[in-house]
Amino acid sequence: MKLGRMNHIGVATPDLDASITFYRDVMGATDITEPFVLDSQKVRVCFVNTPGEGGTAGTQVELLQPTEADSAVGKWLEKNPLGGQHHVCFEVPDIHAAKAEFEAIGKRVLGEPRIGAHGTLIFFVHPKDMGGMLTEIMETPNGH
Ligand code: CO
Repeated sequence: MKLGRMNHIGVATPDLDASITFYRDVMGATDITEPFVLDSQKVRVCFVNTPGEGGTAGTQVELLQPTEADSAVGKWLEKNPLGGQHHVCFEVPDIHAAKAEFEAIGKRVLGEPRIGAHGTLIFFVHPKDMGGMLTEIMETPNGH
């Protein structure tokens, strides 16, 4: 496994619009993307861009509101009704190599690499194999 940049933290919310208002008005975020629906994950998503140092890209908070109660994020919200940190996402240079490496040491990769909210290939690793943290692995987007 070749650890890359921390791309984002995924935060589940029961009310995406209220969360956007919170990040803008309470946290002072000035760069929040337009929400869109990611049908494959049954979520409505937007990104809060945090500034980096010296003109470098910062990281993101990925806000996720389920579009259906019967979905991965919907079920998670049932147990955590306030919302909160749902997953963390790290970049890797080669998604297929990372999957093979995790599997070789017995980590449970949840499904095949697929296109995620950033338009790049991602997979998730089971939280019980990752110190309790649902972990998203993303192939580094072109241009980064
Ligand atoms: Co994510």
